Amino acid sequence: MSNTAMLHNIAGAPTEIGVSPVSIHIGAEIDGVDLTKPLSAQAVEEIRAALLKWKVLFFHDQHLDHEQQLAFSRQFGELTVGHAVFGNVEEHPEIYSIAKHRKANRYKTGEKMEKPWTGWHADITAAINPPSASILRGVNIPPYGGDTQFTNLVAAYNGLSETLRGFVDGLRGVHRFAPPQGADTFEDYQELLKKRGQASEHPLVRVHPETGERALYVSPSFLKSIVGLTPRESEQLLELLWEHAVRQDYTVRFRWKAGDIAFWDNRSTCHLAPSDIFQIDADRQLYRTTLVGDVPVGVDGKPSNSLEGEPILAYAAE
Ligand code: SIN
Repeated sequence: MSNTAMLHNIAGAPTEIGVSPVSIHIGAEIDGVDLTKPLSAQAVEEIRAALLKWKVLFFHDQHLDHEQQLAFSRQFGELTVGHAVFGNVEEHPEIYSIAKHRKANRYKTGEKMEKPWTGWHADITAAINPPSASILRGVNIPPYGGDTQFTNLVAAYNGLSETLRGFVDGLRGVHRFAPPQGADTFEDYQELLKKRGQASEHPLVRVHPETGERALYVSPSFLKSIVGLTPRESEQLLELLWEHAVRQDYTVRFRWKAGDIAFWDNRSTCHLAPSDIFQIDADRQLYRTTLVGDVPVGVDGKPSNSLEGEPILAYAAE
């Protein structure tokens, strides 16, 4: 929360926020701000800069309600509807509830996650303009377990050999919603997809619109195939890239407490929701807002194209 001591950046200049990196490539804790109140223009700019650099920011002890989460989020851009496919919290069209049991059906058969990248994703990359950033507020947090992991896709891109970078720079992939293989899913999932399904072809390497950095734009839960390759080539190359993208040295693991906020750049990261929470009784409840995103652009300057569904626009009350 607010910090009375004067904060400085590494060059010694006074700052409104404190930024403490938590791993080499990704994640920083932010202090010196009270998110229940409007931020100064300088604090907003400093948070934006920290987000671009560290890709995911963690704020502790904030305890926002729905209205305060909306007000905080709006200082960084226009908000989408809670979730373009799965809807929103009643009376709060721009808030999506991340409740433990929303996905419980997927796990009720007890099937194991077999591959380390299973479940990793950037939010809604099936859309032509996936949200640019997401803001997740922890309300009910299990006493242990339930961590969220994040990976830096710019570091992952830079960690590929120059030869492979040159190859993937020119590729595009098809992202779509599909039930996880071999798992039960929401009863009405297919119905929802018929009404609000999304599919898009995005560059495999995305040029970040603000930093110009290249990100390995592989969102394992949504990315189904690489255009122009045989199914086997596509499967093998995707496995290689996914395994690479979630290497431990590009990732950070966030241990939640009630009142925490995680704010991530969806254009340069993927994240993994926990599956261990289904093995204990404790509840877990978080709430997410997402900022409207733009259409990704590849290294060749070519934008993504939509295969199905509509762009995710700013929520507008009717
Ligand atoms: C999400 O995928 O946005 C939620 C992450 C989480 O539940 O930890």
